[in-house]
Amino acid sequence: MSGSGHVQASGSGYEARTRLSEGAFSAARRSLPTGVSRQTLVYRPYPLFAERGQAQYLWDVDGNRYLDLVNNYTSLIHGHAYPPSVEAAVAQLHAGGALGAPTRLELEFAELLRHRFPVVERLRFALSGTEAVMYALRVARAHTGRQRVLKFEGGFHGGHDEVQYNIAHPPMAAGTFRAGEPNSAGLLDLPTLVAVYNDVESVEAAFAAHGEEIAAVIAEPFLGNAGLVAAAPDFLNRVKEIAHAHGALFVLDEIQSMRLTEGGAQRIHQVTPDIVTLGKIMGGGLPLAAFGGASHLMDALDGFAPEVPQTGTFNAFSASLAAGLATMQAFDRDAVARLNREGERLRAGVRRVFRDRDIPVTVNGQGSMFNVIVSDAPVTTYREWRQAPTELWSAVRMRLLAAGMYITARGTGCLSTAMSGYDVDTFLEALADAVAGAKRDKESAR
Ligand SMILES: Cc1ncc(COP(=O)(O)O)c(C=O)c1O
Repeated sequence: MSGSGHVQASGSGYEARTRLSEGAFSAARRSLPTGVSRQTLVYRPYPLFAERGQAQYLWDVDGNRYLDLVNNYTSLIHGHAYPPSVEAAVAQLHAGGALGAPTRLELEFAELLRHRFPVVERLRFALSGTEAVMYALRVARAHTGRQRVLKFEGGFHGGHDEVQYNIAHPPMAAGTFRAGEPNSAGLLDLPTLVAVYNDVESVEAAFAAHGEEIAAVIAEPFLGNAGLVAAAPDFLNRVKEIAHAHGALFVLDEIQSMRLTEGGAQRIHQVTPDIVTLGKIMGGGLPLAAFGGASHLMDALDGFAPEVPQTGTFNAFSASLAAGLATMQAFDRDAVARLNREGERLRAGVRRVFRDRDIPVTVNGQGSMFNVIVSDAPVTTYREWRQAPTELWSAVRMRLLAAGMYITARGTGCLSTAMSGYDVDTFLEALADAVAGAKRDKESAR
């Protein structure tokens, strides 16, 4: 959905107030393909170019201020430039950021994560979620001696080859599984299998056919890139049971969902994976990720000549650890409760805004996250999400951007602890105007 499809920028006021972004985009396209370093950030007619961020706000190059509901795609839990994290990172940079030796910060952070995620007996840090997942799956293959990975359609686990299958493909039939369809040219031809999310039969079918070849199943607690479709109660536990019955591991990707509670979504689902991957918020605004699990699995990385050697010049970058520690320490039970309460209020408010204007809407999301889908049908599967209309949301979203609300093209957003109840109310007022305006435009175009 993002970056493509029908967009109604004209009439929204977006173009009139983002002239410098437009110019920056044209100039950037000369040296950077599509003008960006990350495909996610592209949308039509052109993305706003950011200048700076502070707490709950983002400023673009034209000087417009936005309430930032993107939060770097869920990775900022306390908003931009959270002072304790910035101070800790700066102090660490002054003390030498990349020291080329292990640091005690790693130990302190590892203890914090072990405490919050009981599944994690031992862990390793990585620079990005992509790398954390790549290593988690490598550990699973080393442990089982098997090659295949089973993922879900619509599931996103980073940019490496093994999981770049069926991210945005047409939906599969219920109860089926398939060999992965590549999401990119140039991928290695890997034996990744793909199943239907929230569909136990599909997982059973994949294992019935290939049970002895599958090293691991990898799943998110919700489809972060596809409508925030949440795992049905017990789905994750069922997937784990099926995997274990066939000698495979269950990897839970909590890179996005770790913002739901201090101990991630596994607390909500009461599921204990074999390996968990973490990322995004844990770096306090800087790049940092991790993967961990039971000691006997992480043993693959242990020793002076380990089975699975992990490398990475900037792994466990000390400034990221310092910033991340400050952020995670402030992401405590009270912070989670307040943030998630505001999330609930926002989701209810969004439903009200659309209902008051007689427009059917589905608002997915949990905790501090939401996904607005302008559709009267519930969106509980990847198929339903793919079939939901997008046109009206695109028009609403351009109006929101023009009103100083930064929100994604695919309708997802999230809160940060920097936001107050007032910010939520401000967003809901802007949404009410945007919906009314988009509805008017649609009616007058008839
Ligand atoms: C669930 C999930 N896994 C993995 C990744 C990849 O992480 P990164 O972008 O840090 O490589 C993402 C990023 O959006 C994600 O949402």
